[in-house]
Amino acid sequence: MTEPPGPERRRFLRTLGALTGAVTLGTTAGCKSPGSDAAASGAAGAEFGGRTITSAAVLPKPFTVPLPIPPVKRPSRSTSGTDYYDVTAREASVEILPGLRTTIMGYDGIFPGPTIAARRGRRTVLRYRNQLGVPTVVHLHGGHTPPESDGFPTDLVLPATGGARFADQAVGGTATTGTRDYTYPLDQRAATLWYHDHRMGFTGPQVWRGLAGFLLLTDDEEQALPLPRGDCDIPLMITDRAFDADGAFNYPSMDTHLSAMPGVDAAHMAGAAGDVVLVNGAPWPELEVDAARYRFRVLNASNARRYELALDPEPPSGTPFTQIGSDQGLLAAPLQHSVLPIAPAERFDVVVDFSRYPVGTRVTLTNRAGRGGTSRVMRFVVTRRAPDDSRIPARLSTVEALSTASARTRPWMFRKGKIANMGANTAGWVVNGREFDPRRVDAAPRLGEVEIWRLATDAYHPVHIHLSPFQVLSRNGGPIDPGDHGWKDTIDLRPKQYADVAIRFDDHAGRYLLHCHNLEHEDMAMMATFQTTR
Ligand code: C2O
Ligand code: CU
Ligand code: CU
Repeated sequence: MTEPPGPERRRFLRTLGALTGAVTLGTTAGCKSPGSDAAASGAAGAEFGGRTITSAAVLPKPFTVPLPIPPVKRPSRSTSGTDYYDVTAREASVEILPGLRTTIMGYDGIFPGPTIAARRGRRTVLRYRNQLGVPTVVHLHGGHTPPESDGFPTDLVLPATGGARFADQAVGGTATTGTRDYTYPLDQRAATLWYHDHRMGFTGPQVWRGLAGFLLLTDDEEQALPLPRGDCDIPLMITDRAFDADGAFNYPSMDTHLSAMPGVDAAHMAGAAGDVVLVNGAPWPELEVDAARYRFRVLNASNARRYELALDPEPPSGTPFTQIGSDQGLLAAPLQHSVLPIAPAERFDVVVDFSRYPVGTRVTLTNRAGRGGTSRVMRFVVTRRAPDDSRIPARLSTVEALSTASARTRPWMFRKGKIANMGANTAGWVVNGREFDPRRVDAAPRLGEVEIWRLATDAYHPVHIHLSPFQVLSRNGGPIDPGDHGWKDTIDLRPKQYADVAIRFDDHAGRYLLHCHNLEHEDMAMMATFQTTR
């Protein structure tokens, strides 16, 4: 069933291989398990409430580059209960747009970073080295992680050389030089997690330059299900970027050296968005698929853009997407969607059954919230009939509703406001009227107690809470959205909305964050701190 790679593809592979070491080719031939278990430029628009930056670079025609799959990282060492990974953040020059070079900041020098495949109950230790010229912080998004390893935005890992000049930025946090160990117990449900930079004031530009990767957590419950696996279980990291004529990323930083002044220029306050859609770091890629079921773990790792994903053409029968999981793992039962809205940092675990299409069909993953180039994401080509023994069981998992009978309600208002922004009194984004201050604690929930958090907005704000997942109870006092089901850690809030979510923090006492995951809002102070107590 394997088709030999064509010359185009071989050349691409060679180039990619030379640049990154080992990136698996994005074509599949039967759903065998892998060795490891585990065009047009966008018009300015109001797709997420902000404006799109137009690239000066010559952009490729969509669907001419194969989809890369980030390589699965091998542990440097394993003991009976722990896997140790060495990850180094460094600059690298890579080919994102064909024929042009882009300097990235990448975990192990690649974008996306390597995928960490983890199993519930085994501890994962990330031995992290910062070889960049600026401070960094690593956060495991969705991780149920002790506070000292959660990546508080001023727990800085300073550059190994010349780091001392940034030491005073560790306000209310602790700085280490060159390296830091992050310990993840991963005693939590199987889920599509991701790790990314979280440096105070500079998360937006540092993620835009490439500091993001997957951590795929599995467990016995998930392994027992007959879901598509192996080469038919594919993570899709969707990001948007803009490029200068020479291929460099174009990001509207106040301080392009990322050394002192956080945030973006006034024109991009609503968020940085580009006119090129990348999936796993490749522009509008294409993936050859069998006429079979595929599981896609869709992550919107864009700084600010939200998408409304759809298939064109829709399958002749049934709905395009069968959702099996949300941010924090399996749903109780599958849900059908024809459109999938996805805000920054949200994950949707969906199955697409390509056997419903005739062989030869080209199926575009579109973005109904986009325009021009951003109205397309990637394309699938159904290349061959293939056996498929996967199924989607009617029951996937157990999701017990949190009891809110005696829960207190805590209001959190996310809106525009004045911030000091390192001296300059300027426009920014605030939570409950206040800008982020790493020395202040805004709430002190008790471990083990269910609370209702009422999250309210003025504009689009994808709100994310660290440490523990939540369940969406209502929106504007009414029914929840189709994408709100299951255990969530990020919610797609739209302008002038409020949602009630039930949350219970467990296990770890300490300081954590909630914030808007529009990274420009986050950098311009839309974060708050809570301290869990026993
Ligand atoms: Cu994905 Cu606090 O972050
Ligand atoms: Cu997080
Ligand atoms: Cu926001």
